[in-house]
Amino acid sequence: MERSNEAAGLESRTETQTADEALRRYQAVRQASEALTRSLTPEDQLAQSMPDASPTKWHLAHTTWFFETFLLTSRLAGYRVFDPRFGFLFNSYYEALGARQPRPARGLITRPSLDDVLSYRAHVDEGMARLLAQGAEGFADLLDLGLAHEQQHQELILMDILHLFAQSPLHPAYAPPRAAPAPVAVAPLAFVGFDGGLVEIGHGGPGFAFDNETPRHKVFLGPYRLADRLVTNGEWQAFMADGGYRRPELWLSEGWATVQAEGWRAPFYWQDTDAGWMAMSLHGLRPIDPAAPVTHVSFYEAEAYASWAGARLPTEAEWEHAAAGLPVEGRFLGAGRIDPTPAPDGDGLRQMFGDAWEWTRSAYSPYPGYRPAPGAVGEYNGKFMAGQFVLRGGACVTPAGHVRASYRNFFYPHQRWMFSGVRLAMDAA
Ligand code: AVJ
Ligand code: FE
Repeated sequence: MERSNEAAGLESRTETQTADEALRRYQAVRQASEALTRSLTPEDQLAQSMPDASPTKWHLAHTTWFFETFLLTSRLAGYRVFDPRFGFLFNSYYEALGARQPRPARGLITRPSLDDVLSYRAHVDEGMARLLAQGAEGFADLLDLGLAHEQQHQELILMDILHLFAQSPLHPAYAPPRAAPAPVAVAPLAFVGFDGGLVEIGHGGPGFAFDNETPRHKVFLGPYRLADRLVTNGEWQAFMADGGYRRPELWLSEGWATVQAEGWRAPFYWQDTDAGWMAMSLHGLRPIDPAAPVTHVSFYEAEAYASWAGARLPTEAEWEHAAAGLPVEGRFLGAGRIDPTPAPDGDGLRQMFGDAWEWTRSAYSPYPGYRPAPGAVGEYNGKFMAGQFVLRGGACVTPAGHVRASYRNFFYPHQRWMFSGVRLAMDAA
């Protein structure tokens, strides 16, 4: 955006470019969210299919509320809050910011309408354009957080729409249905060895990272081996055929109790039909591709599979040490199809980034020396560090550019609506 007071002629070129750059990045992320909703009807965007999922309309409003609350109200002189009642509706979990709509009842928010929410977005975007006209000096970290936050919600929109559409007898396709892939053979699983030793993990800068990736610190690793690709649907079918879901000796006690209580016998979206196993996907209901990575499995299932395979899950430190030297390249959102894809041919580690989030055996805990930011924004990550497990690497629904080697995603061990998959590990012989 052009500076209005060019007459002063004194602002440095760098500052001007920084302002342009900040606004361009802001607008790209905001427009990407709206682009994801283009194939959805207003009805699609209101429904909430389970307490863990949120309506698309709520995601669009909540990310907007985040910029309004953490940036505009305190930093833009003369900013008018769009509607003071929206704090109650679109605050997700910030206790320091007051009471809120109960999470399971987000689907009851018929007002404001979708059009009103889009006007809210336009109002906040206009405020952000005025704020960013001077660059992001003094709040670059908060801007990065707001953008990374909105990208997390882009992935959540897709997870939640898939869950909603999976409840529909019509099996709607979010994205154009794609023909069954030409069958490809995936090379047998191989393992890549690492010496381990005293290594460092965590974000040490430069660039943005969430606070849960810090501080960078030392970890001791014994020698280990990592599978060179993700576990496939075909391999998962072998586990099922070998009684994987019926053999308690393969399962953690909590996992086995969940299998019994929920009647699990296959990954989350699989359906046993006359035509064989099918799975609901963002491209609609279609046959299982045996070469593609398995997704929508819980931590408990990943653990049981690893036991069955005579292996284990990697720790997050093992995963990060192996990933740190690799380019952050893989099948992320924006690659055309929104579907995990068979491993490419080649040697060495593949699919470390993209396709499917990889369950680790690591509890989601603070790194030594971790301190959440002061104030409400400190509730972003730290208060969730109990009872969850870390997943690494990003998935086909994760916006390109969002993850890095140090990125820590986290979910409860029974949850399955994420694009979660499995990479095996072993102690080195
Ligand atoms: C990291 C995906 C577990 O869904 O609560 C969104 C992301 N944090 N808004 C979540 C998040 C704040 C977070 N996960
Ligand atoms: Fe959020």
